[in-house]
Amino acid sequence: MCGIVAYAGPGDTTAILLEGLRRLEYRGYDSAGVAVAARRKIKRVRVVGRVEELTDPVGADLTGSYPAGIAHTRWASHGPATTANCHPHTDGSGRIAIAHNGILDNAEQLRAEITAAGGVLTSDTDSEVLAHLIAAQLEAGAESLVAATSAALDRVRGTYGVVVLDAREPDTIVAARHGSPVVIGVGDGEMFIASDPAAIAHHTRKVVYLDDGELATVTAGDYATITRDSRRTIKAPVELTAAAEGYELDGYPDFMTREMHAQPEAMRRALAGRLDPRWGTTRLDGILLDARELRSLRRVTIFGCGSAYYAAEAGALLIEQLARIPAEAQPASELRYRNPVVDSDTLYIAVSQSGETADTLVAVEELQRKGARVIGCVNVVGSSIGRACGQGMFLHAGPEVSVASTKAVTNMTLSFAMLAVLLGRIRDLSPADGARLVAGLEKLPAQVEQILADDEHIAQIARTYANASRMFFLGQVRGWPVAREGAQKLKEISYIHAEAYPGSELKHGPLALIDESMPSVVVIPDDDVLERNLSTIEQIAARGGPVIAVTSAELPKSAPITHMIRVPHNSPELDPILLTIPLQMFAYHTAVALGRDVDKPRNLAKSVTVA
Ligand code: F6R
Repeated sequence: MCGIVAYAGPGDTTAILLEGLRRLEYRGYDSAGVAVAARRKIKRVRVVGRVEELTDPVGADLTGSYPAGIAHTRWASHGPATTANCHPHTDGSGRIAIAHNGILDNAEQLRAEITAAGGVLTSDTDSEVLAHLIAAQLEAGAESLVAATSAALDRVRGTYGVVVLDAREPDTIVAARHGSPVVIGVGDGEMFIASDPAAIAHHTRKVVYLDDGELATVTAGDYATITRDSRRTIKAPVELTAAAEGYELDGYPDFMTREMHAQPEAMRRALAGRLDPRWGTTRLDGILLDARELRSLRRVTIFGCGSAYYAAEAGALLIEQLARIPAEAQPASELRYRNPVVDSDTLYIAVSQSGETADTLVAVEELQRKGARVIGCVNVVGSSIGRACGQGMFLHAGPEVSVASTKAVTNMTLSFAMLAVLLGRIRDLSPADGARLVAGLEKLPAQVEQILADDEHIAQIARTYANASRMFFLGQVRGWPVAREGAQKLKEISYIHAEAYPGSELKHGPLALIDESMPSVVVIPDDDVLERNLSTIEQIAARGGPVIAVTSAELPKSAPITHMIRVPHNSPELDPILLTIPLQMFAYHTAVALGRDVDKPRNLAKSVTVA
């Protein structure tokens, strides 16, 4: 989604901004731009396309040294991807430039007012009004850029993370946040601002996160934060965590490969210090509820979007099975609109890699408004969802760049497994079962290594079916969220239509679609529904459909399977974590065979910060 980078300092401003934009590319965007203040005028360069296409015009037009600058990658929301719609936007006189993330709900009304007052708007965007409103406040005598920005923001309804540059005060940047993240990077005699620490983590590890309703005035040597009602806030920088490192390919062909192969290490990080073999339980110190409070829970509701929602489904199942507490998963994008009935005995868990997904964040806020107890299961420390929840389980997956989520999703399910063991042991899960699961959790990273080593075999199967135009992903009970995630991965990066179904539902309708051209990937854990899965395979094979079985079980030789992908067996409860890995690899190799841009699939963004 849209990204902001800004810089104030003695360095090469345009080069620093362009490098920052490059590091935000993974979030997805369709156009980009840079603005600096030069001789009492804003100079800017904007392009539709990739950041690399911006490099030449920026080099040509923005040479020289500038004390500060702002830059943006845009994902079209109001108005198509055109140069005129690219940020940074300026006011009519070219004094003010802004880069904005978020959506202004009353933009139409403000645009009409600006036009009626003789202002000329040059884009279709909602954001452009901000530049005009801030300039008008300065013209009307606002005492500072931050005061003008605050007064302008009083006029808007909606969400924003915004940076502002004033050509008459060329060494200052003002930033403000409401619903869209802004982080200040504190350097040595230089300052960075970004919507995502990834853009600035290579410069500094000391950061200040703006809170909603906060503004900052930033110069090379200092930053000052205030609230919208002009109260000074004192914020010391905090240390950036590992989640902002590692945005390089390090010899891998793409980030998805790098991230799939980072899974064993990411899992070990997530497990570190959390397993308690002696008591057959786990320790999750980020959850600030004691054993009595955890024991009094009567329900668990987990919510997230996309792959995070499928991980939530796997998590709900684990909690229900191991702790015997009714648990369910909900898409956050639905939950937020459902006017949910909040129950004080329910634990709500928001799950998100980025911690910035707008639908999930709004669902958290809506639930909290109703008095719900919401904890986070989030990868990015310091993210909006992590901070809104204030407690929970961090995923420790490290930075994830590829749009298709792999290691973060694996660590989501892993975290839910740890939580399920913890909740189980507080209730009726026996010490022996607890110990078995703790041992199983410990074994998982090495088993994932084994699966990753099966790469060429999985690649061959993927190439065999790469020209299929549609595929089924089938699974039952524990295999069902795995099948959903497998279908999601395939469709998002290969663009093949993939549909997930619970295996036993096949005969209630979708069986009509089965023929030789419809491959089915059947997910088969080694558990008590093995017979049902074998029956599903028989039904498909009887109609001529190819079957790709992905299994941790020893299947009978007679089973009519066209291709088999074996994963090691762990425990029935934990096998789904292993079964997900080959489906990532299958999707990846299919996408590569079709020549897709695996890290940046069309129409998708890494972090969906608009609702
Ligand atoms: C799938 C994918 C998306 C995200 C979803 C939620 O590979 O990446 O479906 O899972 O947009 O994102 P987060 O986890 O950042 O909230």
